[in-house]
Amino acid sequence: MKRVIIVGVGFGGLRAARILSGKGFDVLLIDRNNYHLFQPLLYQVATAALEQESIVYPIREVIRYWKGVRFRLAGVHGIDLEQRRVFMATGTVEYDYLILAAGSITNFFGIDTIKRYGYDLKHLSDAVVLRSQILGAFERAVQESDVSERAALLTFVIVGGGPTGVEFAGALSELVRYVLSKDYPELRMKDVRIILVEASGSLLLTFPGKLQDYTLTRLQQMGIEVKLRTAVRGAEPGRVLLGEGTSIPSYTLFWAAGVRAASLADALSVKKVRGNRIVVKPDLTIDDHPEVFVVGDMAYLEQGGIPLPMTAPVAMQQGEYAGRAILRREQGYSAKPFRYFDRGSMAAIGRGLAVANIMNLNFSGLAAWIIWLVLHLFFLIGFRNRAVVLLNWAYDYFLFKKQIRIILQEKKGDSNNFPE
Ligand code: NAI
Repeated sequence: MKRVIIVGVGFGGLRAARILSGKGFDVLLIDRNNYHLFQPLLYQVATAALEQESIVYPIREVIRYWKGVRFRLAGVHGIDLEQRRVFMATGTVEYDYLILAAGSITNFFGIDTIKRYGYDLKHLSDAVVLRSQILGAFERAVQESDVSERAALLTFVIVGGGPTGVEFAGALSELVRYVLSKDYPELRMKDVRIILVEASGSLLLTFPGKLQDYTLTRLQQMGIEVKLRTAVRGAEPGRVLLGEGTSIPSYTLFWAAGVRAASLADALSVKKVRGNRIVVKPDLTIDDHPEVFVVGDMAYLEQGGIPLPMTAPVAMQQGEYAGRAILRREQGYSAKPFRYFDRGSMAAIGRGLAVANIMNLNFSGLAAWIIWLVLHLFFLIGFRNRAVVLLNWAYDYFLFKKQIRIILQEKKGDSNNFPE
C-alpha cells in the first residue's frame, strides 16, 4: 500500500486527503493542531463577534469516515527528500508521496519591534490575545487619568489595507460603535480612533478600482481614518512609528501587512521566491522530486504571468489537484498542468456591507454581503458550527450585540503594551 504523508490540515491538506481516502492508500495527516481552523473568520473572534470554538473543527471528527486516513498531532521539523522521510518531534515517518500544505505565517518583513509590540492574526490563540488586548485597552482607559495616555489606549492602528486589514477595521469599528459605546459610558467614543495605514495608494489592491473606492468611502463613513501612501516602519511601547519620521501614540498595533510561507519551507533546500514560497512546477511538484507536491500558501506558481494568490480557494483547488494527480500517477497516467479557476474574491466591510468580484461582476453593499455570508457558512465545517455562527450573526445584526467580550489571554513575553 502506497504511503502518502500530508503536512497541514488546512484547506489544501484536507481536500487532498478527502480525494485519496478510500482509494487504497495509507494517508497520514500531520499537524501541530488537532483541529482545522477556518481562518477567514478569525478576525471575527478577535472582534468579539464569534466564539473561538465555532470556527474550528476537530480533525479526528473530520476524518472519522475517511477510509485509510490517519492523523498524528506533531510538528514537522525536517524532511529528507532523498530518503523520503519526514521528521517529527515524536518520530520519523516514511512516504511514497508527500504533500506539503502547511500554509503561511505573518510576514513581519524582519521588523523585530513590530513582532514584539504588535499583534497579528494567524492562529486561534492570536485572535483571543488580540480581543483581550482591545478590551483590556478600554478597561485601562477607564482608569487612566492622564489624557494623552488615555488617548493612546483608545487608538487602534491597523497596518495593511489588504482584505485582513479592511475586514478587521470594519469589524472593530462596529464593536466600538454599537457595543463598547454602551459598555463604557465613562469614555467618550469620539476619543476612540481606528487608523488604517496602507503603504500603497489604495485599499484591496487586487480588487477592481470601483470596489477599492467603495471600500475606502464606506470605511471613512464608519469613522475609520485611512492613511494611504503611509508605511509603518516599527514600534515602541505605546507608539507606532511611521516611515515619514512621524509616529502615532497607540498601545494596539495590529499587523496585517502580509504573509509568508510557513517556516517548514526553511527546512527544504529547494527553489524559493519572495515570501519564502516554494517554486513548484505546473503539476505542483518540485524539481527532481515528482513525488513531492506543494499546495496552497506555501506554493509559488504563476498563471498568465501573475502569481497565484495565497487564498483558501487556491489551496482547495491545489489540494484536490494533488490528490487526483497521485491517483492518476498510480493508474499509469500523468496529470495535466494545474489551472486555477478563479471564481473571484470578496471582503466584508461591516453590517450588510461587503465588496465582491464574482466571475468578473462587481457587487457591493448588501448584495455582496449576502454572497459573503452564504459562502462563508457553506465552507465552514460542521452543522453545529454553522448554526452557532449564524445565530451569532443574527444576534449581532438584529440586537447589536457581541456577546464574547471576554478578556482571556495576554500576549506572551515582554510585550505588555499598557502604560507602566
Ligand atoms: P495582503 O498582502 O493582501 O495585504 C497587505 C497590505 O499591507 C498591502 O496592501 C501592502 O501594501 C500593505 N503593507 C505592507 N507593508 C506595509 C507597511 N510597512 N506599512 C503599511 N502598509 C503595508 O495581506 P492580507 O490582507 O493579510 O491577505 C493575505 C492573503 O490572504 C491575500 O492573498 C488575501 O487575498 C488573502 N485573504 C483574503 C481574504 C478574503 O478574500 N476575504 C481575507 C483575508 C486574507
